[in-house]
Amino acid sequence: MDLLINSPSWNYRDGELYCEDVPLERIARRTGTPVYVYSRRHLVEKYREITAAWRGRSHLVCYSMKSNSTGAVVRTLVGEGSGVDVVSGGELYRALRAGAPAEKIVFAGVGKTEKEIVEGLQAGILFFTVESTPELELISRTADRLGKTAPVALRVTPDVDPRTHRYITTGKAENKFGLDREAALEFYRLCRRLPGIDPVGIHMHIGSQILDTAPFREGVKRLVALLKKLKAEGISLRYLDIGGGMGISYRGEEPPPAAAYAAALRPLLKGLRLTVILEPGRFITGNAGALLVSVLQVKQKAKKNFIVADGAMNDLIRPALYGAWHQIVPVRPGGGKTVRFDVVGPVCETGDILGTGRRFPRPEPGDRLAVLSAGGYGSVMSSNYNSRPRPPEVLVDGESFRVVKRRESYRDLVKGEAL
Ligand code: LLP
Repeated sequence: MDLLINSPSWNYRDGELYCEDVPLERIARRTGTPVYVYSRRHLVEKYREITAAWRGRSHLVCYSMKSNSTGAVVRTLVGEGSGVDVVSGGELYRALRAGAPAEKIVFAGVGKTEKEIVEGLQAGILFFTVESTPELELISRTADRLGKTAPVALRVTPDVDPRTHRYITTGKAENKFGLDREAALEFYRLCRRLPGIDPVGIHMHIGSQILDTAPFREGVKRLVALLKKLKAEGISLRYLDIGGGMGISYRGEEPPPAAAYAAALRPLLKGLRLTVILEPGRFITGNAGALLVSVLQVKQKAKKNFIVADGAMNDLIRPALYGAWHQIVPVRPGGGKTVRFDVVGPVCETGDILGTGRRFPRPEPGDRLAVLSAGGYGSVMSSNYNSRPRPPEVLVDGESFRVVKRRESYRDLVKGEAL
């Protein structure tokens, strides 16, 4: 079995799949399945790959915790010096709880509530990414009322096409995010007039799972042109936030390494006294994790063979929601001729698919499968649909592993309910 992901942290040894130096079978026996497994080493290596690529240029990585907000994952990255990109009061709460310094937190999101704005101001975050003029006015009123000054960065839609899935394209003029470039000057002029506002930066985020540096170059060029116009009006900004979106390998794609992005973008920033902010999510977490499941049944129907696994769309919704392709591999492949299967979960929906048309030697009930590249947008998008308790999460570190989130219980399912 060849692994199509780009991570040295996942490997077969003696016919068994390992995460770092731990056989996945050992984890499955300890925690039961389904279970999310993350490699600490992968998280740290990807984070360091980015900081190494930007060395010598003032920069800050603000890990985008929407891709994986589990406390131990955030804490691992914060421990490396990372800041955090948050998009809700809930994420802000989790980031602070995981030890993120407020001055390294950026707060984005298309519709922040007044409560969330108060929380950001009280914490003393680095800046709010602002998505509209009414939102700027709300931030101004709120800051003024609290006797505070809100640092802000306008989110601009640079109108470049990142050529990715249409649901995760965000930087086109027709998307709901941010303001058009043409509106930017007026926005910053308004910043000067409003009380309680300190314009400190400019932001873009053009999409996710991007496999090319060109759209980033184009976007940054457009933002730099804007920065020059602003400067001419006496408005100097300190932060250029280029968002996230760097892609990873799910099925053998060849994503540019962090150094390629830095090499493509650094020349555009020559002579500009700015701190570059990056908001990678998937790049760090995607291939750090797998969803480990067990085979419940193998069944043959006239037209298809199915593997019914104990993990389902409620645990990992990307295949069902986006038609996303995740490599699925047996933990102990064994031998024998391979058969084509659809790997499905027990949820009562035809769309409850983890992968279709996959070839494996026929498994037995109880055999384990690993759904790879599930570290980003996996557990965070899980739900209790069909009243299925969410899986536990495990962080592997070398030869040891730790349960960093326990499996939900039936009691957890009804927590907060009144009959
Ligand atoms: N910054 C902003 C403002 C964002 O909206 C996002 C992602 C990121 C950073 C991080 O992007 P990344 O580096 O992970 O590509 N659920 C979808 C992905 C949605 C991404 C939303 N925004 C999926 O499963 O593919």
